Amino acid sequence: MVSRSPTSTRSQAVRLFFILALFLLGTRATAQAKTDPSEARALNTILGRWGKTASAAWNVSGEPCSGAAVDTTSFDDTSLNPFIKCDCGSGNNATCHITKLKVYALDVVGPIPEELQNLTYLTNLNLAQNYLTGPLPAFIGNFTAMQYLTVGINALSGPIPKQLGKLQNLLSLGMGTNNFSGPLPPELGNLTSLQQWYMDSSGVSGELPSTLSKLKNLQILWGSDNNFTGKIPEYIGSWTNLTTL
Ligand SMILES: *[C@@H]1O[C@H](CO)[C@@H](O)[C@H](O)[C@H]1NC(C)=O
Ligand SMILES: *[C@@H]1O[C@H](CO)[C@@H](O)[C@H](O)[C@H]1NC(C)=O
Ligand SMILES: *[C@@H]1O[C@H](CO)[C@@H](O)[C@H](O)[C@H]1NC(C)=O
Ligand SMILES: *[C@@H]1O[C@H](CO)[C@@H](O)[C@H](O)[C@H]1NC(C)=O
Ligand SMILES: *[C@@H]1O[C@H](CO)[C@@H](O)[C@H](O)[C@H]1NC(C)=O
Ligand SMILES: *[C@@H]1O[C@H](CO)[C@@H](O)[C@H](O)[C@H]1NC(C)=O
Ligand SMILES: *[C@@H]1O[C@H](CO)[C@@H](O)[C@H](O)[C@H]1NC(C)=O
Ligand SMILES: *[C@@H]1O[C@H](CO)[C@@H](O)[C@H](O)[C@H]1NC(C)=O
Repeated sequence: MVSRSPTSTRSQAVRLFFILALFLLGTRATAQAKTDPSEARALNTILGRWGKTASAAWNVSGEPCSGAAVDTTSFDDTSLNPFIKCDCGSGNNATCHITKLKVYALDVVGPIPEELQNLTYLTNLNLAQNYLTGPLPAFIGNFTAMQYLTVGINALSGPIPKQLGKLQNLLSLGMGTNNFSGPLPPELGNLTSLQQWYMDSSGVSGELPSTLSKLKNLQILWGSDNNFTGKIPEYIGSWTNLTTL
């Protein structure tokens, strides 16, 4: 009979510990956070309608908030388009919410889909440089967490919805090179966080509303090639952070 030495018993215990630890890590990884089902459905509908699919780097096993969408990959990575980023919070059964969506310069044709309004956690939406037609929907005002929004370089038409003024966290708004019509609604004066506003060649017209005097954080304003009428407002002098006009 060969009796085990105390050393080999200890090494067995250590091995057992590591096997247990690996097992626990494994179950943790499979119990990974899931995309909010209504957001996942909406995203698949939107991209499906536009004839676009996720790359293999995200939507792993049909889970949109996975891979590059949840790791440290930058949203600005040009090799990933369309692309999303998610916020999965913390805790065991955390739900992932889609916070960023990019469908940039992909020759997408058609209107902005209704299902977009289900992505209520968006902070960054980039639909620039496509062939989007129809209106900028009023539900755009429901995205109250939005910080970066661009629909620039498209063929959107109709009035600028007054609901846009509800985006009080908005830092950057791109709406230039479109076929909008009518004046800027006074409600846009409520965009008091706004730092960058690109609205050149957007089709808007009429007098600049006096409420824009409240946009004191503006740093960059592109407003050329529109049909504005009236005087250049004096309040522009109170936009003391403005560097580009
Ligand atoms: C969007 O949300 C509404 C209300 O929660 C729901 O009825 C609808 O099915 C959702 N749409 C999609 C495409 O998930
Ligand atoms: C994600 O994967 C699922 C399952 O393969 C698929 O049904 C869905 O269309 C994909 N979504 C996108 C945006 O490609
Ligand atoms: C996590 O989700 C599972 C399955 O949906 C459920 O059985 C469990 O009670 C949940 N745990 C917590 C802490 O919410
Ligand atoms: C979203 O916006 C539309 C149009 O402004 C509004 O009728 C609707 O009640 C809003 N939905 C939510 C959930 O806030
Ligand atoms: C722009 O919109 C007007 C209606 O407001 C329409 O008549 C015109 O065809 C549109 N132009 C383009 C280039 O889409
Ligand atoms: C936004 O602006 C409009 C018009 O300037 C004003 O009537 C409204 O009360 C404002 N809303 C908020 C939430 O500040
Ligand atoms: C202007 O910029 C300064 C420095 O970046 C910042 O502290 C301030 O909040 C900005 N806004 C206004 C209205 O001065
Ligand atoms: C300005 O209005 C005139 C007359 O309504 C129109 O012909 C012209 O195309 C408009 N220009 C721009 C830049 O919208």
